[in-house]
Amino acid sequence: MKIVVAYSGGLDTSVLLKWLKEKYNAEIIAYCADVGQAEELDGLEAKALATGASKCFIGDLKEDFATNYIFPMIQANALYEGRYLLGTSIARPCISKDMVDLAIREGADAIAHGATGKGNDQVRFELAVNALAPNIKVIAPWRDPEFRQQFPGRTEMIAYAESHGIPIRQSLKKPYSMDRNLLHISFEAGMLEDTWYDGTTPADREMYKLSVSPEDAPDQAEYIQLLYEKGNVIGIQYDGLDVLLKELGVNPKGERDGYTLLSPLGVMYVLNALGGKHGIGRVDIVENRFVGMKSRGIYETPGGTILLAAHRDIETITIDREVQKVRDSLIPEYATLVYNGFWFAPEREAIQALVTKSQETVNGEVRLKLYKGNVMYAGRRSPQSLYSEEIATMEGGHEELYNQNDAEGFIHLNGLRLKQFSRVNKPYGN
Ligand code: ARG
Ligand code: SIN
Repeated sequence: MKIVVAYSGGLDTSVLLKWLKEKYNAEIIAYCADVGQAEELDGLEAKALATGASKCFIGDLKEDFATNYIFPMIQANALYEGRYLLGTSIARPCISKDMVDLAIREGADAIAHGATGKGNDQVRFELAVNALAPNIKVIAPWRDPEFRQQFPGRTEMIAYAESHGIPIRQSLKKPYSMDRNLLHISFEAGMLEDTWYDGTTPADREMYKLSVSPEDAPDQAEYIQLLYEKGNVIGIQYDGLDVLLKELGVNPKGERDGYTLLSPLGVMYVLNALGGKHGIGRVDIVENRFVGMKSRGIYETPGGTILLAAHRDIETITIDREVQKVRDSLIPEYATLVYNGFWFAPEREAIQALVTKSQETVNGEVRLKLYKGNVMYAGRRSPQSLYSEEIATMEGGHEELYNQNDAEGFIHLNGLRLKQFSRVNKPYGN
């Protein structure tokens, strides 16, 4: 038997790797996805091999994640339960896909993951594998009673690691669980399980990694401009961008009309830095997990929050009213599909096709003001703007475009059924 194991080099997945090797007497291939979690991946391969893997692969998925997952999701304006930008949810299919590709290449029989039996992540990994490669088995050690009995806590894991020669770096266990990638960091469990626990006090501020607290953000607002092509940000303009790009090590892809052109990954890096600096994108929510329970999460999504706000704004001038209405009606459905792990399901792909079509005209520029936790709208324009000053103006003239006499009949016909209903059913009907 050959198993591809999702591996991070931490205590849990190291123990898991070794335990699987023993239990299934299997060849283990370690896999680690780089989705921008900003963890040191040097030395990971040596560690995996020392722990018992026959091979170790690191998939650099950052550009793929930004281009093929984050951006299409932003085009759909996805937001789960009105607040959660789906940072963890959207990374799972991306990771799963690369793992499946590896498993197929290596002729593996199964994929194993370290998600618990109480969360969403197990569902997302497994539904993705089901949808992509139905013949590959999934092993979830945390759902195996034997595994859970053997490892009721961290102490047992450390003891197991020591007695099995697993190299572990003793890091201080945080009093909450974190999941970081290009789009966000999530904080869950531990002290956050108390829904009344206030995650915004100075004492909690060290928990946050991607953003400053709005109180600590600059007193000076910052203006930025985003350039859109088919619903995607392709360029950014603001004073100081050159310096920031150097700091971030991001290479621009060119210039257009005063904008610095960037890849989706470059856009994420820049907007994360800017959003973080201005305390943008912190969210505290009690959300509904797919498996039925409610769960409290705190999220930092600086760049994603700017992207979502800006995308809504460019659409205000470039998208037809009824197309917008149809697309908007699908936002909760789409967000739920992403949250519940149905990224590779035909219904998500069908909705995405509608979204892609709706974005053909979404071209232009948005200007935003970033200030102490807020993304404020400060202008939008487009060569394809549907907004017409001539039609909208209160100044008079242009009767050929809009004749106010037409409004009379328009209202009469719309009022017809309201009057009739009232005549029959309401007290002032006669
Ligand atoms: N509640 C969020 C979600 O379901 C975050 C999950 C975090 N996952 C983790 N393994 N720490 O998308
Ligand atoms: C986990 O249970 O592995 C993390 C939380 C979640 O997946 O919802």
